[in-house]
Amino acid sequence: MSEIRFVDRIVELKALKEFCSSFRALPLYVYGPKGCGKTRLLKEFVKRFNNYFGEDAIAIYIDAMERSSLEKALLTPRTIEIAKDVLEKMFCFMNFKKNIESGIGRVLADSISTILEQAILHKKLEGNYVLVIVDDVARAIGLDQVEHYVKWLYELLWKLAEEYRPKAINFIATTSEGKSLELIARHRHAGLSLLWNLDEKAFEELFHELKPPKDIDFEQVWRLLGGNPGKLIELASYYKWNLDNWFKELLDRLKPIAVEIMRRKLTEELKLLIDDPDNVWHKASMKLGELYELLVEKNLFMYRGISALGEAHIPKDLDLGIGKDYAWQVPAYREALRQLLFQKEH
Ligand SMILES: Nc1ncnc2c1ncn2[C@@H]1O[C@H](COP(=O)(O)OP(=O)(O)O)[C@@H](O)[C@H]1O
Ligand SMILES: [Mg+2]
Repeated sequence: MSEIRFVDRIVELKALKEFCSSFRALPLYVYGPKGCGKTRLLKEFVKRFNNYFGEDAIAIYIDAMERSSLEKALLTPRTIEIAKDVLEKMFCFMNFKKNIESGIGRVLADSISTILEQAILHKKLEGNYVLVIVDDVARAIGLDQVEHYVKWLYELLWKLAEEYRPKAINFIATTSEGKSLELIARHRHAGLSLLWNLDEKAFEELFHELKPPKDIDFEQVWRLLGGNPGKLIELASYYKWNLDNWFKELLDRLKPIAVEIMRRKLTEELKLLIDDPDNVWHKASMKLGELYELLVEKNLFMYRGISALGEAHIPKDLDLGIGKDYAWQVPAYREALRQLLFQKEH
Protein backbone atom coordinates (compact mmCIF):
# COMPACT_ATOMS: atom_id res chain seq x y z
CA MET A 1 0.00 0.00 0.00
CA SER A 2 1.38 3.40 -0.91
CA GLU A 3 1.85 5.83 1.92
CA ILE A 4 -1.27 7.59 3.16
CA ARG A 5 -1.40 11.36 2.95
CA PHE A 6 0.02 12.92 6.08
CA VAL A 7 -2.67 14.58 8.17
CA ASP A 8 -2.55 17.25 10.84
CA ARG A 9 0.36 17.49 13.33
CA ILE A 10 0.67 21.18 12.54
CA VAL A 11 1.37 22.16 16.12
CA GLU A 12 3.99 19.44 16.41
CA LEU A 13 5.80 20.35 13.18
CA LYS A 14 5.92 23.95 14.34
CA ALA A 15 7.32 22.88 17.71
CA LEU A 16 10.00 20.73 16.05
CA LYS A 17 10.98 23.64 13.81
CA GLU A 18 11.24 25.92 16.80
CA PHE A 19 13.25 23.32 18.68
CA CYS A 20 15.76 22.96 15.85
CA SER A 21 16.22 26.69 15.34
CA SER A 22 18.83 26.92 18.10
CA PHE A 23 21.18 24.69 20.06
CA ARG A 24 19.12 23.08 22.81
CA ALA A 25 21.88 21.53 24.91
CA LEU A 26 19.79 18.41 25.56
CA PRO A 27 18.64 15.70 23.17
CA LEU A 28 14.86 15.53 22.95
CA TYR A 29 13.15 12.21 23.58
CA VAL A 30 9.73 11.91 22.00
CA TYR A 31 7.62 9.38 23.77
CA GLY A 32 4.15 8.11 22.95
CA PRO A 33 1.89 5.11 22.29
CA LYS A 34 2.96 2.58 19.71
CA GLY A 35 1.49 3.55 16.36
CA CYS A 36 0.61 7.12 17.37
CA GLY A 37 2.78 8.48 14.57
CA LYS A 38 6.22 9.30 16.00
CA THR A 39 8.13 7.82 13.07
CA ARG A 40 5.87 9.40 10.47
CA LEU A 41 6.01 12.84 12.10
CA LEU A 42 9.79 12.83 12.26
CA LYS A 43 10.17 11.61 8.69
CA GLU A 44 7.83 14.36 7.50
CA PHE A 45 9.89 16.84 9.47
CA VAL A 46 13.12 15.65 7.88
CA LYS A 47 11.54 16.09 4.44
CA ARG A 48 10.72 19.70 5.29
CA PHE A 49 14.01 20.48 7.01
CA ASN A 50 15.67 22.20 4.06
CA ASN A 51 12.59 24.31 3.41
CA TYR A 52 12.76 25.49 6.97
CA PHE A 53 16.50 25.97 7.37
CA GLY A 54 17.90 26.40 3.87
CA GLU A 55 19.65 24.31 1.23
CA ASP A 56 22.71 23.66 3.34
CA ALA A 57 20.94 22.38 6.42
CA ILE A 58 21.57 18.76 7.37
CA ALA A 59 18.90 16.45 8.74
CA ILE A 60 19.36 12.73 8.99
CA TYR A 61 16.93 10.14 10.23
CA ILE A 62 18.19 6.80 11.53
CA ASP A 63 15.83 3.88 12.03
CA ALA A 64 17.65 2.13 14.83
CA MET A 65 15.52 -1.00 14.38
CA GLU A 66 16.34 -1.61 10.72
CA ARG A 67 18.46 -4.72 10.41
CA SER A 68 19.78 -4.98 6.91
CA SER A 69 18.95 -2.23 4.45
CA LEU A 70 21.01 0.93 4.54
CA GLU A 71 18.43 2.62 2.31
CA LYS A 72 15.71 1.93 4.84
CA ALA A 73 17.82 2.66 7.89
CA LEU A 74 18.81 6.14 6.77
CA LEU A 75 16.54 8.85 5.46
CA THR A 76 17.84 12.22 4.33
CA PRO A 77 16.37 15.02 2.21
CA ARG A 78 17.28 14.91 -1.45
CA THR A 79 19.78 17.71 -1.06
CA ILE A 80 22.03 15.53 1.07
CA GLU A 81 24.50 13.21 -0.54
CA ILE A 82 25.84 10.39 1.56
CA ALA A 83 28.95 8.37 0.89
CA LYS A 84 27.27 4.99 1.17
CA ASP A 85 30.52 3.08 0.79
CA VAL A 86 31.89 4.72 3.93
CA LEU A 87 28.86 3.51 5.84
CA GLU A 88 28.91 0.01 4.36
CA LYS A 89 32.56 -0.34 5.33
CA MET A 90 31.89 0.95 8.79
CA PHE A 91 28.99 -1.47 9.19
CA CYS A 92 31.16 -4.43 8.27
CA PHE A 93 34.00 -3.23 10.43
CA MET A 94 31.86 -2.70 13.50
CA ASN A 95 30.22 -6.08 13.24
CA PHE A 96 33.62 -7.65 12.74
CA LYS A 97 35.06 -5.85 15.74
CA LYS A 98 32.17 -6.63 18.04
CA ASN A 99 31.94 -10.11 16.64
CA ILE A 100 28.18 -9.80 16.56
CA GLU A 101 25.46 -9.36 14.04
CA SER A 102 24.03 -5.97 14.94
CA GLY A 103 21.44 -4.60 12.61
CA ILE A 104 22.60 -1.74 10.44
CA GLY A 105 20.27 0.76 12.16
CA ARG A 106 21.88 -0.03 15.47
CA VAL A 107 25.35 0.46 14.02
CA LEU A 108 24.30 3.81 12.54
CA ALA A 109 22.85 4.87 15.87
CA ASP A 110 26.29 4.25 17.35
CA SER A 111 28.09 6.07 14.54
CA ILE A 112 26.46 9.47 14.35
CA SER A 113 29.74 11.35 14.37
CA THR A 114 31.17 9.24 11.54
CA ILE A 115 28.09 9.89 9.47
CA LEU A 116 28.30 13.61 10.04
CA GLU A 117 32.05 13.85 9.63
CA GLN A 118 32.78 11.44 6.83
CA ALA A 119 29.71 10.28 5.05
CA ILE A 120 27.93 13.53 4.33
CA LEU A 121 29.39 14.98 1.17
CA HIS A 122 29.58 18.62 0.10
CA LYS A 123 28.20 20.04 3.30
CA LYS A 124 29.84 21.77 6.19
CA LEU A 125 28.73 21.45 9.76
CA GLU A 126 30.13 24.82 10.73
CA GLY A 127 27.57 27.60 10.82
CA ASN A 128 24.89 25.16 9.73
CA TYR A 129 21.64 23.74 11.06
CA VAL A 130 22.09 20.08 11.91
CA LEU A 131 19.58 17.53 13.16
CA VAL A 132 20.03 13.84 13.87
CA ILE A 133 17.03 11.65 14.65
CA VAL A 134 17.39 8.19 16.15
CA ASP A 135 14.11 6.34 15.94
CA ASP A 136 12.99 3.58 18.30
CA VAL A 137 16.06 3.87 20.40
CA ALA A 138 14.97 1.78 23.39
CA ARG A 139 13.90 -1.24 21.39
CA ALA A 140 17.04 -1.21 19.27
CA ILE A 141 19.56 -0.56 22.01
CA GLY A 142 17.86 -2.66 24.67
CA LEU A 143 16.55 -1.43 28.01
CA ASP A 144 19.75 -2.32 29.82
CA GLN A 145 21.74 -0.01 27.53
CA VAL A 146 19.30 2.89 27.36
CA GLU A 147 20.78 4.91 30.18
CA HIS A 148 24.23 4.50 28.81
CA TYR A 149 23.04 5.61 25.36
CA VAL A 150 21.23 8.65 26.77
CA LYS A 151 24.42 9.84 28.40
CA TRP A 152 26.52 9.06 25.34
CA LEU A 153 24.15 10.95 23.05
CA TYR A 154 24.29 13.96 25.32
CA GLU A 155 28.07 13.95 25.40
CA LEU A 156 28.27 13.49 21.66
CA LEU A 157 25.95 16.45 21.12
CA TRP A 158 28.26 18.68 23.14
CA LYS A 159 31.40 17.35 21.54
CA LEU A 160 30.07 17.98 18.03
CA ALA A 161 28.75 21.41 19.05
CA GLU A 162 32.12 22.47 20.41
CA GLU A 163 34.26 20.92 17.71
CA TYR A 164 32.35 22.00 14.61
CA ARG A 165 30.50 25.09 15.78
CA PRO A 166 27.29 24.49 13.87
CA LYS A 167 24.68 27.22 14.11
CA ALA A 168 22.33 24.76 15.77
CA ILE A 169 22.91 21.07 16.27
CA ASN A 170 20.22 18.94 17.87
CA PHE A 171 19.33 15.32 18.46
CA ILE A 172 15.89 13.80 18.68
CA ALA A 173 15.21 10.21 19.70
CA THR A 174 11.94 8.33 20.04
CA THR A 175 10.63 5.53 22.17
CA SER A 176 7.34 3.74 22.78
CA GLU A 177 8.61 1.71 25.69
CA GLY A 178 7.07 2.90 28.95
CA LYS A 179 9.88 1.33 30.90
CA SER A 180 12.44 3.36 29.00
CA LEU A 181 10.62 6.56 29.93
CA GLU A 182 11.49 5.97 33.57
CA LEU A 183 15.10 5.31 32.67
CA ILE A 184 15.36 8.41 30.50
CA ALA A 185 13.38 10.67 32.82
CA ARG A 186 15.73 10.23 35.71
CA HIS A 187 18.61 11.71 33.71
CA ARG A 188 19.48 15.35 33.44
CA HIS A 189 20.85 14.44 29.98
CA ALA A 190 17.51 14.40 28.24
CA GLY A 191 14.48 16.51 27.46
CA LEU A 192 11.15 14.74 27.15
CA SER A 193 8.02 15.35 25.11
CA LEU A 194 4.84 13.38 24.70
CA LEU A 195 3.26 12.66 21.33
CA TRP A 196 -0.27 11.36 21.70
CA ASN A 197 -2.67 9.70 19.24
CA LEU A 198 -4.47 11.97 16.74
CA ASP A 199 -7.35 14.10 17.95
CA GLU A 200 -10.84 13.27 16.76
CA LYS A 201 -10.89 15.70 13.85
CA ALA A 202 -7.55 14.57 12.43
CA PHE A 203 -8.44 10.94 13.00
CA GLU A 204 -11.68 11.40 11.09
CA GLU A 205 -9.75 12.98 8.25
CA LEU A 206 -7.43 9.98 8.12
CA PHE A 207 -10.43 7.65 8.37
CA HIS A 208 -11.98 9.17 5.20
CA GLU A 209 -8.61 9.24 3.49
CA LEU A 210 -8.56 5.43 3.83
CA LYS A 211 -11.92 5.15 2.02
CA PRO A 212 -13.95 3.15 4.51
CA PRO A 213 -17.03 1.20 3.34
CA LYS A 214 -20.31 3.09 3.80
CA ASP A 215 -21.67 0.94 6.61
CA ILE A 216 -18.80 1.48 9.02
CA ASP A 217 -19.52 3.88 11.80
CA PHE A 218 -16.76 6.40 12.52
CA GLU A 219 -17.86 6.92 16.14
CA GLN A 220 -17.49 3.24 16.89
CA VAL A 221 -13.99 3.15 15.41
CA TRP A 222 -13.02 6.27 17.33
CA ARG A 223 -14.30 4.83 20.61
CA LEU A 224 -12.19 1.69 20.18
CA LEU A 225 -9.09 3.02 18.42
CA GLY A 226 -8.99 6.40 20.13
CA GLY A 227 -7.13 8.20 17.35
CA ASN A 228 -4.27 5.73 16.89
CA PRO A 229 -3.28 5.96 13.20
CA GLY A 230 -1.27 2.75 13.28
CA LYS A 231 -4.30 0.77 14.47
CA LEU A 232 -6.56 2.47 11.92
CA ILE A 233 -4.27 1.51 9.05
CA GLU A 234 -4.10 -2.03 10.41
CA LEU A 235 -7.91 -2.15 10.54
CA ALA A 236 -8.25 -0.85 6.99
CA SER A 237 -5.57 -2.85 5.26
CA TYR A 238 -5.12 -6.06 7.18
CA TYR A 239 -8.66 -6.51 8.52
CA LYS A 240 -10.42 -4.92 5.53
CA TRP A 241 -12.46 -2.78 7.93
CA ASN A 242 -13.86 -5.76 9.82
CA LEU A 243 -13.89 -4.20 13.27
CA ASP A 244 -15.31 -7.37 14.89
CA ASN A 245 -12.44 -9.48 13.61
CA TRP A 246 -9.96 -6.84 14.63
CA PHE A 247 -11.36 -6.82 18.15
CA LYS A 248 -11.60 -10.63 18.34
CA GLU A 249 -7.93 -10.94 17.50
CA LEU A 250 -7.11 -8.35 20.09
CA LEU A 251 -8.96 -10.49 22.66
CA ASP A 252 -6.90 -13.50 21.59
CA ARG A 253 -3.72 -11.53 21.87
CA LEU A 254 -4.52 -10.17 25.32
CA LYS A 255 -5.80 -13.41 26.81
CA PRO A 256 -2.42 -14.48 28.21
CA ILE A 257 -2.12 -11.09 29.90
CA ALA A 258 -5.59 -11.51 31.38
CA VAL A 259 -4.49 -14.90 32.71
CA GLU A 260 -1.41 -13.30 34.21
CA ILE A 261 -3.56 -10.65 35.91
CA MET A 262 -5.81 -13.35 37.40
CA ARG A 263 -2.88 -15.49 38.42
CA ARG A 264 -1.31 -12.62 40.31
CA LYS A 265 -4.70 -11.74 41.85
CA LEU A 266 -4.74 -8.26 40.40
CA THR A 267 -8.31 -8.18 39.07
CA GLU A 268 -9.57 -5.70 41.66
CA GLU A 269 -6.70 -3.42 40.76
CA LEU A 270 -7.55 -3.78 37.09
CA LYS A 271 -11.09 -2.64 37.89
CA LEU A 272 -9.63 0.51 39.40
CA LEU A 273 -7.61 1.29 36.27
CA ILE A 274 -10.55 0.54 34.01
CA ASP A 275 -12.65 3.03 36.00
CA ASP A 276 -10.01 5.72 36.05
CA PRO A 277 -6.38 5.47 34.91
CA ASP A 278 -5.39 8.12 37.45
CA ASN A 279 -6.11 5.62 40.19
CA VAL A 280 -2.45 4.63 39.74
CA TRP A 281 -1.83 7.85 41.60
CA HIS A 282 -4.98 8.28 43.71
CA LYS A 283 -5.16 4.75 45.06
CA ALA A 284 -1.49 3.86 44.94
CA SER A 285 -0.70 0.49 46.49
CA MET A 286 1.85 -2.27 46.05
CA LYS A 287 -0.55 -4.40 44.05
CA LEU A 288 -1.69 -1.52 41.88
CA GLY A 289 1.97 -0.77 41.26
CA GLU A 290 2.51 -4.37 40.21
CA LEU A 291 -0.38 -4.22 37.75
CA TYR A 292 0.80 -0.86 36.43
CA GLU A 293 4.26 -2.25 35.70
CA LEU A 294 2.78 -5.24 33.92
CA LEU A 295 0.54 -3.10 31.71
CA VAL A 296 3.36 -0.66 30.94
CA GLU A 297 5.69 -3.48 30.05
CA LYS A 298 3.09 -4.85 27.63
CA ASN A 299 2.67 -1.40 26.07
CA LEU A 300 -1.00 -1.17 27.00
CA PHE A 301 -0.94 1.65 29.51
CA MET A 302 1.29 4.63 30.08
CA TYR A 303 2.20 7.74 32.01
CA ARG A 304 1.16 10.84 30.12
CA GLY A 305 1.91 13.52 32.68
CA ILE A 306 4.86 14.99 30.74
CA SER A 307 4.22 18.00 28.53
CA ALA A 308 3.17 17.30 24.98
CA LEU A 309 5.17 18.30 21.93
CA GLY A 310 4.02 21.80 20.95
CA GLU A 311 1.94 21.95 24.14
CA ALA A 312 -0.76 20.08 22.23
CA HIS A 313 -3.84 19.77 24.41
CA ILE A 314 -4.78 16.17 25.16
CA PRO A 315 -8.04 16.32 27.06
CA LYS A 316 -8.85 13.97 29.86
CA ASP A 317 -11.56 11.62 28.60
CA LEU A 318 -12.51 8.74 30.82
CA ASP A 319 -14.64 7.12 28.10
CA LEU A 320 -11.45 6.71 26.08
CA GLY A 321 -9.43 5.64 29.11
CA ILE A 322 -7.42 8.86 29.22
CA GLY A 323 -6.84 10.32 32.66
CA LYS A 324 -5.03 13.51 33.54
CA ASP A 325 -1.69 11.79 34.17
CA TYR A 326 -2.20 8.17 33.14
CA ALA A 327 -3.88 6.59 30.13
CA TRP A 328 -4.61 3.43 28.21
CA GLN A 329 -2.59 3.61 24.97
CA VAL A 330 -5.65 2.62 22.93
CA PRO A 331 -9.20 2.42 24.40
CA ALA A 332 -9.74 -1.07 22.95
CA TYR A 333 -7.05 -2.49 25.26
CA ARG A 334 -9.06 -1.47 28.27
CA GLU A 335 -12.30 -2.77 26.76
CA ALA A 336 -10.68 -6.08 25.80
CA LEU A 337 -9.30 -6.66 29.30
CA ARG A 338 -12.67 -5.69 30.77
CA GLN A 339 -14.44 -8.28 28.66
CA LEU A 340 -11.83 -10.96 29.28
CA LEU A 341 -11.85 -10.60 33.04
CA PHE A 342 -15.37 -9.57 33.86
CA GLN A 343 -17.46 -11.25 31.14
CA LYS A 344 -16.04 -14.71 31.09
CA GLU A 345 -17.80 -16.07 27.97
CA HIS A 346 -14.66 -15.46 25.87
N1 LIG B 1 -0.36 12.18 10.84
C1 LIG B 1 -0.46 11.08 10.10
N2 LIG B 1 -1.04 11.10 8.87
C2 LIG B 1 -1.15 9.98 8.14
N3 LIG B 1 -0.67 8.79 8.51
C3 LIG B 1 -0.05 8.69 9.70
C4 LIG B 1 0.08 9.82 10.56
N4 LIG B 1 0.72 9.45 11.68
C5 LIG B 1 0.98 8.14 11.52
N5 LIG B 1 0.52 7.68 10.34
C6 LIG B 1 0.63 6.31 9.86
O1 LIG B 1 0.27 5.43 10.93
C7 LIG B 1 1.16 4.32 11.00
C8 LIG B 1 1.84 4.25 12.35
O2 LIG B 1 2.62 5.41 12.52
P1 LIG B 1 4.13 5.36 13.04
O3 LIG B 1 4.74 6.68 12.74
O4 LIG B 1 4.84 4.17 12.52
O5 LIG B 1 3.89 5.20 14.62
P2 LIG B 1 4.98 5.09 15.80
O6 LIG B 1 6.32 5.38 15.21
O7 LIG B 1 4.55 6.10 16.81
O8 LIG B 1 4.85 3.70 16.33
C9 LIG B 1 2.13 4.49 9.83
O9 LIG B 1 1.63 3.74 8.74
C10 LIG B 1 2.08 5.97 9.52
O10 LIG B 1 2.38 6.27 8.18
MG1 LIG C 1 8.02 4.22 15.14
